[in-house]
Amino acid sequence: MSAPTTAPASDTKMRIEPVKSAQREQRVAAHSHIKGLGLLDDGTAAPNHAGFVGQENAREASGVVVELIKSKKMAGRALLFAGAPGTGKTAIAMAISQELGPKVPFRPIVGSEVYSSEIKKTEVLMENFRRAIGLRIKETKEVYEGEVTELTPEETENPLGGYGKTISHVIIGLKTVKGTKQLKLDPSIYESIQKESVTVGDVIYIEANTGSVKRVGRSDAYATEFDLEAEEYVPLPKGEVHKKKEVIQDVTLHDLDVANARPQGGQDIMSMMSQMLKPKKTEITDKLRREINKVVNKYIDQGIAELVPGVLFIDEVHMLDMECFTYLNRALESPLAPIVIFATNRGMCTIRGTDDVVSPHGVPVDLLDRLLIIRTLPYTLDEIKEIVKIRAKTEGLSVDDDAIDHIADRGLNTSLRYAVQLLTPANVLSDINGHSSIALEDVQQVDDLFFDAKKSAQHLTEQESKFIV
Ligand SMILES: Nc1ncnc2c1ncn2[C@@H]1O[C@H](COP(=O)(O)OP(=O)(O)O)[C@@H](O)[C@H]1O
Ligand SMILES: [Mg+2]
Repeated sequence: MSAPTTAPASDTKMRIEPVKSAQREQRVAAHSHIKGLGLLDDGTAAPNHAGFVGQENAREASGVVVELIKSKKMAGRALLFAGAPGTGKTAIAMAISQELGPKVPFRPIVGSEVYSSEIKKTEVLMENFRRAIGLRIKETKEVYEGEVTELTPEETENPLGGYGKTISHVIIGLKTVKGTKQLKLDPSIYESIQKESVTVGDVIYIEANTGSVKRVGRSDAYATEFDLEAEEYVPLPKGEVHKKKEVIQDVTLHDLDVANARPQGGQDIMSMMSQMLKPKKTEITDKLRREINKVVNKYIDQGIAELVPGVLFIDEVHMLDMECFTYLNRALESPLAPIVIFATNRGMCTIRGTDDVVSPHGVPVDLLDRLLIIRTLPYTLDEIKEIVKIRAKTEGLSVDDDAIDHIADRGLNTSLRYAVQLLTPANVLSDINGHSSIALEDVQQVDDLFFDAKKSAQHLTEQESKFIV
């Protein structure tokens, strides 16, 4: 019986932990029908593929960018999608992230997210930059690995008296092809076992130094039991239970910042109290970041880690101001820079934070100079029709042909986004009207009930005198 105990990470070593909360949910369900750029093997865009219709040039250009990013020739470079609203800029950016796969960080933000009363604009940008830079770390770790054969927490009376029992230790059995081992573990490890929701029959490994537990998957001996489970089945591990194992971890620089940030304040009672009363976000200082960079560069030099420059996508970039642009210019020069993709629907306009500096897309000329620009063009009636059909299918709606024609027609006159948005309310009305599928009448009714942007603006000018200004 051996007992790995939790040891605090030594000061000289960097803590490496991915931060769960940093993983964002897909920001917009509006693009859930997009499954990639829909390119053929030769890199050309199929007219209707992977949920994508038309916009061939922009998609092919994005395909080239994806290749550059994958071969790491794109770091520190930037890209701008420019085009009218509803021409698929955000959709293409999402498709790029899908093409890159889950191992390359992709961080989408909207320009206006930098404005907050608590955090400096440049700080927000810096944090998001670091969320977009990945590090793949290879480490040889001493682990206990195997299929869980038993999991028994041993309880004792609460030593402090009172009700309830506490767990004194936990007995865990681990099995590999070679043999079985029983371990007696510290209760703190039992917590991480519970967090990973480990049950008997799972394959796990426990790191000997830190006591952290990782669930690899379900042992394939259990595979036939429940066919419907969305489970990853893994074979029974080979070798001994106690061994050295090469572990690969994908983290972002921001994960490292958070894992290594220490709570503020000293260790005395007063500062402990004030921390309890006012739980403060631990601060990530410039100094900490510089230290992390130093260690990261050392790891890269030693071949322990590999840099994976990801993508920072800044939508509605005209919302940024001069201070942000200056910062971006500088940040892009750093050797630890991600690929930055901007999108905007503005033409010539005044740069925010200046009185009268007019520039294309509201982006200063010196930054524009660095950018590759990809244009997105308005859709044809047929393309809009196809996109509406794909959306209807994704939302599980059936729509009559003449209703689709009408929606597409409205899309041509207003925007694709407005057309796509008509579907859901039209479905509600079609239910009320007792139709089995969305009919022309339902769509017309919705169109009468709601205003599109143009109609609304027209209404405003006509009725101007009646509004408060
Ligand atoms: N070429 C396309 N194929 C399929 N769906 C598209 C295409 N272009 C845009 N869409 C969809 O139309 C809607 C509006 O597009 P969006 O990307 O938000 O436009 P933009 O960002 O240019 O304003 C979204 O739901 C998007 O997924
Ligand atoms: Mg957009």
